[in-house]
Amino acid sequence: MTSMGLHKCWKITRAMVSFIIFLSFLEESKACEYDHASLEAFVRDRANQEIAKARAGTLYDIPLPSNFSGMNFSVLRVRSGSLRRRGANYSSYNLPPLIKLEPYVKRIAIIFENFGNWSSRYYHVPNHTIVAPVLGLLAYNTSETALVLSRRLNLSIREETPIKVRFFRSWVHGNNEEKPVCAKLGDDGRLVELKEMREPFVCDTQSEGHYTLVVPVLEEAKNKDARQRYHNRTRWAALIGIGSGLIVLLLVICVFVVIKLLKRRKLKTMEETAEKGEIIGEFWVGLSKMPSASMVRTQPALEN
Ligand SMILES: *[C@@H]1O[C@H](CO)[C@@H](O)[C@H](O)[C@H]1NC(C)=O
Ligand SMILES: *[C@@H]1O[C@H](CO)[C@@H](O)[C@H](O)[C@H]1NC(C)=O
Ligand SMILES: *[C@@H]1O[C@H](CO)[C@@H](O)[C@H](O)[C@H]1NC(C)=O
Ligand SMILES: *[C@@H]1O[C@H](CO)[C@@H](O)[C@H](O)[C@H]1NC(C)=O
Ligand SMILES: *[C@@H]1O[C@H](CO)[C@@H](O)[C@H](O)[C@H]1NC(C)=O
Repeated sequence: MTSMGLHKCWKITRAMVSFIIFLSFLEESKACEYDHASLEAFVRDRANQEIAKARAGTLYDIPLPSNFSGMNFSVLRVRSGSLRRRGANYSSYNLPPLIKLEPYVKRIAIIFENFGNWSSRYYHVPNHTIVAPVLGLLAYNTSETALVLSRRLNLSIREETPIKVRFFRSWVHGNNEEKPVCAKLGDDGRLVELKEMREPFVCDTQSEGHYTLVVPVLEEAKNKDARQRYHNRTRWAALIGIGSGLIVLLLVICVFVVIKLLKRRKLKTMEETAEKGEIIGEFWVGLSKMPSASMVRTQPALEN
């Protein structure tokens, strides 16, 4: 019965510990919500599965599962020679002639991205608010059998004739007091650089990557944000503290109850054996078991 009690104790404690761990994981995953590398790989795989025969120079939408709704990815396969000679204009992107490929391959696949309403989940610009969708272009090697190989390629072009990433005016939200600036974002979602727009709602760039428009967060709002984060953190710390306290308390109670039960059981068995008259066999002295009958026999000899 006591071992069952112990077992139950252990099970309850374990369940509580895993619950706390689960909660902290939830909190963790909220902080660095989405993984860029796995999204990139996922989109690549989808393109290879869903688009059987991609004609050169044709832009294809990459179909995504419904839980990605709001994002938009498309893919273009093109001969490097053609891209170099003529450049290309697709949806939001102007690729001028003379783009350099590193390493050089004969044909490339370009994935155009629009993160839509997912932009601020995947990307974060410190002290700034993202006011437009994150757009991106990534270049990959391609082959006869796979539309998009995992090998990424670098694009580069002279500063005078940049690649242009265009945002529709209607995509840009927020109050129009602050003039937005271009933000270049890294593959890991972090800010690479900020740059003034030369043309309204157009980011000029000399390489592949992710781009969006941001406005600086006002000092006041920033402080409010920081305070909010501080509050969240302290609330979370308090929750963890209370949780751990509860677990320790539960453990102490459990151990206490088990010890109590053990003691009671021992007392009971001792009483039972005493009733049966078997106590004469042996009893406890300090930590050693002693045969009591022999002691009784030696006693008279000591007294005399
Ligand atoms: C959509 O679900 C798939 C699994 O079915 C998952 O791998 C993917 O990360 C989900 N997408 C998003 C944007 O959460
Ligand atoms: C984005 O909008 C679509 C509907 O257009 C919606 O289904 C999706 O949940 C939204 N995603 C986010 C992250 O808000
Ligand atoms: C792309 O558009 C620019 C102007 O926006 C134009 O000068 C260029 O010729 C176009 N290129 C192609 C290949 O259509
Ligand atoms: C954001 O602003 C705060 C306060 O003005 C400053 O301490 C911090 O360094 C800024 N962060 C970045 C990444 O510029
Ligand atoms: C690009 O893909 C082609 C076709 O599979 C292959 O022959 C070539 O070695 C690849 N190049 C690079 C740089 O990965």
